[in-house]
This record gives sequence, structure tokens and C-alpha cells, in this order.
Amino acid sequence: MKKRSITFYALSNFQSLLDDMVVPAERALHEAIQVSPLVHSDEAKKQKVENLLKEMRLSAATVRRIKEVFISEMNKGIHQQPSSLQMENTYIPELIDGTEEGQYLALDLGGTNFRVLLVELQHGKIMREKVKKYEIGSHLRIGSGYPLFDYLAECVSDFVINEGLQDTELPLGFTFSFPMVQHALDIGMLVTWTKSYNCPDVVGKNTVQLLREALARRGDTKVKVNAILNDTTGTLIQGAMSDPKTAIGLILGTGSNACYVERADRVEHWEVERHGEKEVIVDIEWGAFGDNGVLDFIKTDFDRENDANSILVNSFTFEKYIAGKYLGEIVRVILARLYKDGLFLSSKVTPNALLTPGNLTTDLVSHIEQDTVDGGKKNTVEVLSKFGVTIDEDDINVVQYVCEVASNRAALLVSICLAYLLERINKDDISIAVDGSLFKHHPRLETWMYKYIRLLAPGRKFKLVLAEDGSGKGAALVSAIAQRLQRRID
Ligand code: GLC
Repeated sequence: MKKRSITFYALSNFQSLLDDMVVPAERALHEAIQVSPLVHSDEAKKQKVENLLKEMRLSAATVRRIKEVFISEMNKGIHQQPSSLQMENTYIPELIDGTEEGQYLALDLGGTNFRVLLVELQHGKIMREKVKKYEIGSHLRIGSGYPLFDYLAECVSDFVINEGLQDTELPLGFTFSFPMVQHALDIGMLVTWTKSYNCPDVVGKNTVQLLREALARRGDTKVKVNAILNDTTGTLIQGAMSDPKTAIGLILGTGSNACYVERADRVEHWEVERHGEKEVIVDIEWGAFGDNGVLDFIKTDFDRENDANSILVNSFTFEKYIAGKYLGEIVRVILARLYKDGLFLSSKVTPNALLTPGNLTTDLVSHIEQDTVDGGKKNTVEVLSKFGVTIDEDDINVVQYVCEVASNRAALLVSICLAYLLERINKDDISIAVDGSLFKHHPRLETWMYKYIRLLAPGRKFKLVLAEDGSGKGAALVSAIAQRLQRRID
């Protein structure tokens, strides 16, 4: 009895000790995630605007809940249970080790541009590189996939022949930034298209095979596709070349996703023979996080409308909250709603441009956010003038407020996931290699991310390092790693 009450006393003391620690941490988080208040000449309208955007502002408790859901989905995914997180094995167990030599090609498909690269490596360092961008018309992005792959092969040939390398055997790493199931380092079956692509006949097919066949049909080069990867993986590998502490690759661009270095013994999906690998890169495919409904508690009407206006409705839930392809549209949807409710733009002219989906791109959000950083309004006026309406000071403030709320939520969501990855990887000091237009051009994301990750993963040492063109150069580096691994097996 006595023992029990001592235990009870100790436990309740421990609880209050915990409360003392948790409550300030919760308070700090709550304070940190506040956005600047809306400035408005009309108090009633101000409150209505703030009220309408209330659900876009995550509370500290919601932040904790998102983290719990993310952890649970990651664990299910890695244990091959139903989950919205694919947790795909990339079969890349090692980074660059300094022995890589020679010329490698890279193909980068999935971002804003399609590119072919030639990279020359000496002692695992890039000594020379050549890049050429090619346009992919929308008629190739939507429809049958065969013309698309023929075009990719045509671009590779054009590039290689221009370099006078048509008779040289060249290994090629293929960055294919779409969700795929990997059966090996050079086998990637497309799960679904995303972003602005939709060629249904490619779904379920091995895209390496499609590329090899298209190259063979031409038969005018000696290119050997030896690896397929995702842009996050390329970014991680490229980041690790200059900073060996890199253990996470992050893309915040048209789409969003991350990969990280996982303990090999935790990875169950492994179809090729193991060779004592200690670690392996796992592609999370977090764009689809919440596609099974687990994140519905943060979905607002604005998100539903954004989804309805997208190419692939009911998919890529998380990506639609954060990525460059969608952030501008979220802002537009909110502004259109505020206009309809008489809370934005008093002009008599209907702002048709604003009411049309897709008309407010994310680069404009970044442009407006720059004003908030500078305390100015020049960019905001410039953007609003595109909508051909008369604006006043209140309209400027409302637009800046909406851009901040939507951008801030994106930064917070990404930070929640990154903070958990730092805990999961559990190394003393971790560098996160980042690439993508949104990260590069949005003036506030990085600062917010540092603030939120520090609060959500207290005591963890990390840094965000820009790894430009990881999806391009990284593919060439992965091709070199693939060649090294193959030689070891042969
Ligand atoms: C999409 C793709 C993913 C890619 C990301 C960033 O989410 O599914 O594979 O990494 O976009 O480009």
C-alpha cells in the first residue's frame, strides 16, 4: 500500500514535471506558428476575413497530430502495410566514395524542364558538365506515352551526336520524378502520373524498359540506361558529394517529396539479393500523404476546390497543400471566395482573371511575399494589376495576408515531416539537401522551416543546404554508383 502511494506520488510528480516541460514547449510552438495580424480599415471585415481563413491556420495540437499520423503512415509503409506513404526502396545503398571516374549521361524528367546532361567525374568529383534543355509540348505530356518516350530518345540522340559521342558506350541515369515501384535499381514501374503529365498507357510499365526500347528503335547511339531514380534521390546524392553529413533529399518545387537514408534492416521490400547493405535510400513519396483520408482533419474547402481544379483529382493530397504547382491556386481560390463574400475588391468590374483557375501562379505568391519581407507593396500592386481591377490599401493587405497564411502552412507541414525524419535518422548532425523552384524563390520558406524544425525536433543539429540541379547531376552520380555496384557483383 505504502509502496503504491509512493509510486503514485512519484508518478504524479513526474507528470507535473512533464507538464511543466511540455506546456512551455507547446506555448512556444503556438506562438511561433502565428502569422502577422491582418491590417484592415474595417474591423468587421477584418474579422470575417480572419475567420474564413481560420482553418488554414494549424494549432499546436493539430501540428502534433499530423506528426503522429506521419510517423504511423511511415511505419506502415515500410512494413508493407496499407499506407498513403509508399516508402519505396531505391536500391541505392551507398553514396559517392571518391573512386568514380569517367563520363555519365543523365536524363531529368518531371520538373519544369526536360534536360539531358553529360557529366565527367574524376575521383568522385564533377570536373565538367554539359546540359541541354528540351521543351516537352503538352501534346506529349498528355495522351499515349509512346510518342513521349520516342521524343526522350530523340533528345538523347541529338545531345550525344552533338557531343560526337555516338560510338562511345555511355551509362545513363534516368531521373523520373513520379511515383514508381522499384524492383531493382534499374527497374521502375510507374504507379501514377502527377504534376502536368498524364499518359495512361505507361501506368504499371517499367519506364526504363520503355526508354531502352525507344533508344533501340533509333539505334544511333550506344547509351546504356543503368539506373532509375527520383529527383529527391538525385538531390541527396548530389548534396552528399560536397557535404557527407547529407542524409535527407528534399524537393520543394512544382511537386514535393523527400527521401532519406534508412537502416537497411528496417526495409522489408527488397527484391534483389542483399549484399550486407547497412543503409539504403528510401523515397517516401510524401506527395500522396493523406490520399487514404488520414489527413482529412486539416482539409479546408479551399483545398477541396484546389483539388477539384487539378489534373488528378483525389490524389496527391499533401503535395496539393505545399507544392509550387498548387500554392498559387490555393491563394487564388481563397481570394475568389473573399471577393464573392464582398471582403475583397470593391471594384464594379468582375475580376474574371481572378475567378479563372490556374491564373495565379506560385511565383506571384513569392513575389507578393517579398513585399511582406520588405514592408512594401510594389510587387503586390504589380500582381493585382494583372487582374485588371481597381484596388485599395485594404485589398493589398488582404492579398498579403492570404499569401502569408497559405505559405506559412506549407512551411509548417514540410517542417513537421522533416523534424520527424531527423529523429528517425538519429545522427548527431544532419544536412538536408534541398532543391526546387519554390524553395529557391519563396523569400520566407527557409527561415520558417529553420524556426519550426528547431521547435519540433529540439536539440537536433541540422542544416538546409541548397543542392542545385540535384535531379540532373545526381542522376549521373547514381549511374556511376550503379556501375560501381555492378562491377563488385560481376
Ligand atoms: C511528385 C512525384 C515525386 C517527386 C516530386 C517532386 O510528388 O510523385 O516522385 O519526387 O513530385 O518532383
